[in-house]
Amino acid sequence: TNGHSQNLKRVVVTGGLGYIGSHVVVSLLLTGQYQPIVIENCHNSYPEALNRCAEIARDELGPDAPQPILHNVDLRDAEAVEDVFTQYDTKGGIWAVIHLAALKAVGESGEIPLSYYRVNVGGSVSLFESMAKHNVQNLVFSSSATVYGTPEIIPIPETSPLLPASCYGRTKAMVEEIIQDLCRVQKKDGQGSLRAVSVRYFNPAGAHPSGKLGEEPRGKPGNLLPLLAQMAIGREKSQLKIFGTDFPTPDGTCVRDYLHIMDLAHGHVLALDALAVPTTQKNIFSHCDAENGSFRSFNLGKGKGMSVLNMIDAMRKATGYDYQYEIVGRRRGDVPDLTADPTLAEKELGFVASRNLEEMCRDLWNFQTKHPNGYGNV
Ligand code: WQD
Repeated sequence: TNGHSQNLKRVVVTGGLGYIGSHVVVSLLLTGQYQPIVIENCHNSYPEALNRCAEIARDELGPDAPQPILHNVDLRDAEAVEDVFTQYDTKGGIWAVIHLAALKAVGESGEIPLSYYRVNVGGSVSLFESMAKHNVQNLVFSSSATVYGTPEIIPIPETSPLLPASCYGRTKAMVEEIIQDLCRVQKKDGQGSLRAVSVRYFNPAGAHPSGKLGEEPRGKPGNLLPLLAQMAIGREKSQLKIFGTDFPTPDGTCVRDYLHIMDLAHGHVLALDALAVPTTQKNIFSHCDAENGSFRSFNLGKGKGMSVLNMIDAMRKATGYDYQYEIVGRRRGDVPDLTADPTLAEKELGFVASRNLEEMCRDLWNFQTKHPNGYGNV
């Protein structure tokens, strides 16, 4: 540990080796205020990601930079989760939890729903039980635009009803409801009540600009951008398929709100900043009524929709690779357009996803060219 570690605020980051989680860990480290404590089962990530986070922190803050801690624990193992929290009781405790760990493929969730409920809902309950036992009162929950299903209004405001159209989306909506119920539990003296922020992600893309950290899922990527990057570098040999061109969108392909992973990661630092504002001051929970307690949800998006064809074109420019694709049927669970209305997060968290599409594709390609075979083989 380094000289400063005693005055850092400990933040448990579940799923902290994953694509979003590892970039969140880097952003926490670079503030110099937090000690990230990663809980991961490495189901869809590599321990090497932790070393890259530590290296980036040292690059930017010097040899004395805070370094992340890893606990290789599966959230389905409630006892192991409880052991992690207990370890920190005598060291000043845990200040907050950022909960990202989950299974997250929309199509797959329809094929193995029980795994999705066990991990995403059951795993969250184990985590929340330990938080309650150890009086951890601050929570940032990784939710998803898929909770909106096929929204009535585009761009989507947070008031849009939660009508998830997939098992995965339902697990995220259910965990939001569980958190809302936990926030409704008012302790007698008002102390120790849970305060939670649910951040609903749109589509993250890109990588840390150093090229040392990026999206490294195990096996063939399910998401469009990492797939395009791996195809351009020659790592993914399969034919690019476009899942449907008959959607009610400008060019017939699905529209999504892509934002730079570093903007998304920064959104979590802003959520922690909002949780740190004392209840005596105006804070994001000031207008929450006593009945519902301190629970807020925010869209983290850019507010700009891009189609599948737009993204292929942007990656063609960034990589110089001439993508050929085959048009096939729609993928189960895909909705035509998920574009965020980001004004609430901007107003209340100060969140603005300012990096543009060219930066997303440039940083993604920079990472991929530095890791033609991913970290797994480094
Ligand atoms: C984007 C578009 C596909 C691959 C996913 C998760 C979601 C959330 C964000 C967790 C879609 C099309 C893709 C391909 C294609 N993750 N596509 N050919 O589905 O918007 O959201 O990431 O919160 O839960 O599902 O992202 O990158 O999978 O797809 O045509 O080979 O690209 O149909 O329209 P998605 P995606």
